[in-house]
Amino acid sequence: MLSDQVREKVNKYGQQQIMRFYDELSDNEKAVFEEELENLDFSLLDVLDQRNGAGQEDDNASVYEPLEALKTDEIMERYAEFESEGIDAIKKCKVGAVLLAGGQGTRLGFDKPKGMFNIGETKELYIFECLINNLMDVVNRSGAYIPLFIMTSDKNDKDTREFFAEHDYFGYDRDFVYFFIQDMAPSVDYNGKLLLEEKYKLSLSPNGNGGWFSSMVRAGLLDKITSMGVEWLNVFAVDNVLQKMADPVFVGATIRSGKPSGSKVVRKAFPEERVGVMCRENGKPSIVEYYELTEEMKNRKDDCGEPAYNYGVILNYLLKVESLVDILNEQLPVHIVEKKIPYLDENGNKIAPAEPNGYKFEELILDMIHLLDDCLVFEVFRNREFAPVKNKEGVDSIETARTLLKENGVEL
Ligand code: UTP
Repeated sequence: MLSDQVREKVNKYGQQQIMRFYDELSDNEKAVFEEELENLDFSLLDVLDQRNGAGQEDDNASVYEPLEALKTDEIMERYAEFESEGIDAIKKCKVGAVLLAGGQGTRLGFDKPKGMFNIGETKELYIFECLINNLMDVVNRSGAYIPLFIMTSDKNDKDTREFFAEHDYFGYDRDFVYFFIQDMAPSVDYNGKLLLEEKYKLSLSPNGNGGWFSSMVRAGLLDKITSMGVEWLNVFAVDNVLQKMADPVFVGATIRSGKPSGSKVVRKAFPEERVGVMCRENGKPSIVEYYELTEEMKNRKDDCGEPAYNYGVILNYLLKVESLVDILNEQLPVHIVEKKIPYLDENGNKIAPAEPNGYKFEELILDMIHLLDDCLVFEVFRNREFAPVKNKEGVDSIETARTLLKENGVEL
């Protein structure tokens, strides 16, 4: 029986449509559904009402300043110094790598985890394999395996684990690989109505990449990394096939900077490029979206006469574990993201929409950076380290990633 408390919440939030099939359910299905609703954080739905009002005020109150980048020329000059510091930390097992692979990759439209996509042309070369090959370069340079934590979601955990096992972890030492599962959040249609996936199940989606550390902690991995002596976590996206993880030069430079975090960035390709750029917002490191840049900010120059807001993030961050523990209980903002969400229509038919049909709620890792006191902005060469596979065609697609892989000497 649905508790009065849950029934009240369903009514208060105007979500009676989710009870449409309740009377048809078996006792077992009712029990499953009731438990899901008991655990559902209905207050997430308030974010939809708040999004025009509250967010706006915060933005107006923000004071932006440039956050100086460590540029490639200076990195090249100090390469040996940074590299040896980084290699030393890796040898001492102070660095772990975290692969964010819980996303659904809806833009690519591949029905398996994105990392299982074969980007090879004449041979098999999977996205996961590209990443492991890149990580193996560091293993070979340092002589030490880097603990690799892979975040999946309920939707792709089984496929991901099986794929790694079938391919013998692409040559990585499996004793250094740990999987953990992220949390899920409900989805709604454009009218804010919760969607169903089954008659007794809400349509749930992974809740964004911002909750990765709390999910790791819940999986008991904080004790693990503490006992291993890991002090830094390098977090990165699954979809950048040129991604360099646990890059000793980046690790060394961040440690030397004394800052609690570092972010790899690329110089904007052209001033109007639609990427979020690193800055300081109210004294803290932050990412300002391209549409939030004022004319003054666009024209501002740094000491070298170059644009002061010019470095876009590529989702490759190095974070101090101690600082992550300090911010563990901080609430990140919830973003509303338009997506294609499979759902059950009012007649109980399963629909897989071809176009976006509603919203998901996501927390994002970039908001985590804003909770930290400082961040080393570390420039990398775009054509050597940034080849994201987001779309089927066009910008940041399979084709553009293949071209860049070939340019970097990877055989496809
Ligand atoms: P994206 O922002 O590209 O999202 O993720 P996505 O869900 O994978 O793809 P689209 O937007 O539906 O096409 C950036 C990185 O964050 C991870 C992704 O796996 C990718 O590595 N991510 C995203 C998660 O791990 N969990 C999430 O809930 C969302």
